[in-house]
Amino acid sequence: MASREPIGVIGTGYVGLVSAAGFAELGHEVWCIDVDAEKVARLRAGEVPIWEPGLGELVERHRGRLHFSTDIADALGHARLLFVAVGTPPTYSGDADLSAVHAVVGAMPPSDRHALVMKSTVPVGTGASIKREFARQGKRFRYVSCPEFLKEGSAVADFLGPDRVVVGDDGDWAGDAVVGLYAPLGAPLVRTDIASAEMVKLAANAFLATKISFINEIANVCEETGADVLEVARGMGLDERIGPKFLRAGIGFGGSCFPKDVSALKQLAGNSGYHFQLLNSVIEVNELQKRRVIGKLQKHLGGLVGKRIALFGLAFKPNTDDMREASSLVLSARLQADGASVVAFDPVAEDEARRLLPNVDFADTELGAVDGADAVVLVTEWPQFRELDWVEVAARMAGTTVIDGRNALDPEAVRAAGLAYEGIGRGS
Ligand code: NAD
Ligand code: UGA
Repeated sequence: MASREPIGVIGTGYVGLVSAAGFAELGHEVWCIDVDAEKVARLRAGEVPIWEPGLGELVERHRGRLHFSTDIADALGHARLLFVAVGTPPTYSGDADLSAVHAVVGAMPPSDRHALVMKSTVPVGTGASIKREFARQGKRFRYVSCPEFLKEGSAVADFLGPDRVVVGDDGDWAGDAVVGLYAPLGAPLVRTDIASAEMVKLAANAFLATKISFINEIANVCEETGADVLEVARGMGLDERIGPKFLRAGIGFGGSCFPKDVSALKQLAGNSGYHFQLLNSVIEVNELQKRRVIGKLQKHLGGLVGKRIALFGLAFKPNTDDMREASSLVLSARLQADGASVVAFDPVAEDEARRLLPNVDFADTELGAVDGADAVVLVTEWPQFRELDWVEVAARMAGTTVIDGRNALDPEAVRAAGLAYEGIGRGS
């Protein structure tokens, strides 16, 4: 049956492993390939290398259907659809680095029964150039663009219950097969040409990032004018044309995708001769937003030299151990450059954070982090921070400042403990 055909997934990172486990949940045998031999060995041993809610259980449940290998021939031998989920990180100039994608393309043999299905986020025109490359090499591989929209922290649920499925193809068997594969999920389908599918992905991420930078600027004006951005976002979000999501003001967006994809779209536009003005501001506002926290701390503490600052949360968002482009990286570097010492606690990201932040002290608990701290900054809104006993926190701190970088705490509970609370955009 076409809908249960074996699948190949190349790249077993956040997207690849979640997709593989998701396809296994739909009943498919999945052949997962990665160049990282250590990762493959861990996966073979039943270990899930990333922290993602529900993923461990799903991988465990379908261990019999999930096959892990470093040899692409294993996928080619079993599956005709090869989903590509390798990284496309930014280069120094902000363009997408497609070297991993090209390595996969180069490894494809001459074949008229396989298709590459691109899940990695790539610039518009990548599909066309890969098809030209296949043609030049006399390979009759098919090509489908099938961008992924999952969010880390809810990746499994997003993969199995997507808002929509986008398939860009040439109207051949490969596109039909991908459409059939996703049909059991019952999501609205956008079947289109390859370039448009590629653009949907970049435009969707850039729009969400724009929404965040917009509400962050509104928050900054709220601080000058006495309005509360939470009330403003509530009032705006009830307008169906705006919607309530992605209107949470804070210390800026991070993660492996928004910063990279906004830059990639800006570069793509520039390379095509169009100056995408709005995206420059989206990026600039996001950078400034992280720095404003430093300004708030300076205001409260009268300078940062010799001060001890506790960071609550380090990952770029809750429910993940992903530290890529996390605001905590910029913040801790800046604090240290200004003479402060930094102590941090994150419930799951500590291992990766230790590697990236060699000069930061790590605490085993939230309360351990606040011992002797002059100020606390909430960086990542893990729900457990809201449940803290603020009287105990106040007793352990040397100072009284609490900066809520995600507007996630209860200001009254913090203030009732005798601490000075300041959120983002919550009045003057
Ligand atoms: P990742 O870095 O977590 O995983 C990429 C994997 O590919 C790694 O395990 C790496 O070892 C492997 N790899 C690299 N080169 C390879 C090769 N030649 N052959 C086989 N394996 C190879 O990346 P990710 O976060 O899963 O992102 C993958 C792509 O999906 C990116 O283009 C990203 O923009 C896009 N995306 C990511 C998310 C997300 O939430 N992380 C969501 C949607 C789309
Ligand atoms: C984002 C998109 O939401 C996914 O649809 C997309 O597939 C993915 O990028 C990708 O292409 O990789 P992700 O980065 O995992 O997903 O997480 P988000 O929930 O979008 O959060 C991104 C950043 O924006 C986080 O730092 C978060 O704290 C911040 N954010 C989000 C805000 O500051 N305010 C908000 O209202 C929402």
